[in-house]
Amino acid sequence: MIYLDNAATSYPKPPEVTRAMASFAEDCGGNPGRGGHSASRRAAETVFACREELAELFNIENCERIVFTKNATEAVNTAINGLVDEGSEILISAMEHNAVLRPAVAREAAGASLRVIPADSDGRITPEAVEAAITPKTRLVCVVHASNVTGTLNDIAAINEVVHSRGALTLFDAAQTAGLVPIDASDFDLLAFPGHKSLYGPQGTGGLYVREGLMLSPLTCGGTGSASESPFMPERMPDRLEAGPLNAVGIAGLLEGVRFVKRGGLLERERELARRLAEKAGDIGGAEVVGDNGVNVVSVKLKYADCVEAAARLDAEHGIAARGGLHCAPMAHRSMGTIGGGTLRFSVGAFTTPEDVDAAASALEAVLKSSAF
Ligand SMILES: Cc1ncc(COP(=O)(O)O)c(C=O)c1O
Repeated sequence: MIYLDNAATSYPKPPEVTRAMASFAEDCGGNPGRGGHSASRRAAETVFACREELAELFNIENCERIVFTKNATEAVNTAINGLVDEGSEILISAMEHNAVLRPAVAREAAGASLRVIPADSDGRITPEAVEAAITPKTRLVCVVHASNVTGTLNDIAAINEVVHSRGALTLFDAAQTAGLVPIDASDFDLLAFPGHKSLYGPQGTGGLYVREGLMLSPLTCGGTGSASESPFMPERMPDRLEAGPLNAVGIAGLLEGVRFVKRGGLLERERELARRLAEKAGDIGGAEVVGDNGVNVVSVKLKYADCVEAAARLDAEHGIAARGGLHCAPMAHRSMGTIGGGTLRFSVGAFTTPEDVDAAASALEAVLKSSAF
């Protein structure tokens, strides 16, 4: 199989990631922060080391402001539900994934007001568009760092400045960029990221950075291994937002994933591969590349074929794993004019080769040539 669905989850993982998970499960197995014995202490050390590596990667001073979640979806839900109450206004961009849209709509149903910041024709959210949308009531502004539909990168540092100058808070969704594109979160309020995409950790890992001084109401309440005499969730981070045992096996893998991406060079390589594929795909009759391949994503609009069917044929007839449809981001497709059938998305990863993308382009050509229309 040629795996080109790294935007959904990266595969394969670096061998050290799976080795670390097996070794944690076999040789340690403790529940971090839940006992004074050596297994629990070792587990806590592994979790702490991962927090530290992530903090360094995102230029965050205090690693205890990073909480572990099971994916970016849970991180976004923690942020939105923890901050947006009945009276407040939440702004989300038109390129957001359902991970942002659905919790925002749920807050709207509970009495908050929700408005959408429009994208430009490339699917970009400009600081000017953000500025125009903010009102004095705006509490939180949510913008995706790179669209999972178009691969278009947003200038989140500039957007952060604009939002702060208007007295609101920022939540950036780094689902498609964490580990791939450098991120300096030191001046952000909230950053949601998956562990299982470009950070090369396993599925079931992710996290949320919460700026110092910002207190969220927790999404889940329960044991934290701290302040156990109190019936309330502790105010101290990360405990406040980490009720119940962590996915320590997954975090042991994520730790190695973060170390792997820190060796560098992935963005240049993956962008080059994405652009190579985009160029070849764009030359195929009936295929039109959507967006600007700012990251590892190549989205193709098909004139005469169904995207979901084309993805199924790529898999069945050519052993190529790509994804067709809306990619859980209907607003982005509305913005780009692809809401009808969606797009066929290829996303490269650290282990993709030029031969893989050439094979994908040839397979796409074969599938489209033989599609009935
Ligand atoms: C832009 C964007 N946001 C959020 C998510 C949700 O991430 P996760 O799969 O880690 O929940 C995705 C997943 O593909 C995404 O592409």
